[in-house]
Amino acid sequence: MTLMKLPNLPARLRPLVEEMSGSRIRAVSESAFGKTGLIPLWFGESDRVTPPFVNEGAKKALDAGHTFYTPNRGIPALREAVAGYVSGLRKRKIDVENVTITASGVNAIMLVMQTLVSPGDNVVLVTPLWPNCADAVSALSGEPRRASLTAVNGGWKLDLDRLFAQCDDRTRAIFVNSPGNPTGWMAKPEELRAILEFCRKRRIWAIADEVYERLVYDRPVSPSLVDIATPDDPVISINSFSKAWCMTGWRLGWVIAPAGYGDTLGKVIEFNMSAATSFVQHAGLAAIREGEPFVAEIVEQYRQARDLVTQRLGGMRRVRMARPDAAFYAFFQVDGMKDSLATAKEIVAKHGVGLAPGIAFGPEGEGWLRLCFATSKAKLSEALDRIEPALS
Ligand SMILES: Cc1ncc(COP(=O)(O)O)c(C=O)c1O
Repeated sequence: MTLMKLPNLPARLRPLVEEMSGSRIRAVSESAFGKTGLIPLWFGESDRVTPPFVNEGAKKALDAGHTFYTPNRGIPALREAVAGYVSGLRKRKIDVENVTITASGVNAIMLVMQTLVSPGDNVVLVTPLWPNCADAVSALSGEPRRASLTAVNGGWKLDLDRLFAQCDDRTRAIFVNSPGNPTGWMAKPEELRAILEFCRKRRIWAIADEVYERLVYDRPVSPSLVDIATPDDPVISINSFSKAWCMTGWRLGWVIAPAGYGDTLGKVIEFNMSAATSFVQHAGLAAIREGEPFVAEIVEQYRQARDLVTQRLGGMRRVRMARPDAAFYAFFQVDGMKDSLATAKEIVAKHGVGLAPGIAFGPEGEGWLRLCFATSKAKLSEALDRIEPALS
């Protein structure tokens, strides 16, 4: 673990927070700050701006005076819209009482952890994984426990026995991000069923991070715990407007959970942000109501980008990767690479292409690099031309 240099401050902070390691993706991006001609593929976002109908939703809300506090769990119209949207997607009845609006997916993760984790408790996470999920547990003095997927021929497989073996009597939840960042791995329905069964028996929570559920290339939507959970099951599904509607900067997400849980979430929302931004919630309403053609369009764009990247990277001698069926990342293993952080810094310095180092997603990710392909084909082709000499 890289420890941050302690800041020279006039008074002490919580040691645990002072000593948290900084993001390794940022360590690469900051090393290239201001570089001309850079093609940044390191962060998990599209190069497309938010579609106009979403902006219109926000503009109309501002003009109509929606500038006040809203209920902690979100405006009723958006909660109803999300309930209808998820019911349609999952072919199950989701009620308004099951829905809570949050100020982004990562905010939802932190809020949920605040309702579950006391110091010394642990959460078992399927890894490699976007680092913020484990960091939320650590920030609450909990213990993030990693249950690694197994790398097989450039792809990843879940070992349920290994996952369950990580759980003990201080485990409060199992955290599954499917489709996964960075791997693009998708849990199978039978794996989700086994996890749900285990959580029911142990009376612990199953947290599903499903922010990539719409970015799926071999079926309409990824399998979910929401497909199989009864209303009283210990299942919390976390979602976001960021990825499917190109709204990363808006900071809007939601949680689906048993009806009785929402009021507790509302209590912690009160002292975190007292609800998501009012007019942004109206933008979310426009996204849900009018967004299906846009979602279909970007999925098709990403499918073509995925095919291009898989084909080109697959032809590079040192690269091993399986074609991802979901999310917008190529996560690939590089033969002979010992230090992914140093390699990513070298690639950006020499070739002007920003990649995320695999180590950013945990020790299991060392030896791998992540490329976000939610970018125009022209830019991707140029980036692949540039990195080819380093990977062949
Ligand atoms: C797995 C995962 N969960 C949650 C998020 C949070 O997204 P946001 O906070 O933009 O809603 C991300 C963003 O990259 C992610 O990759």
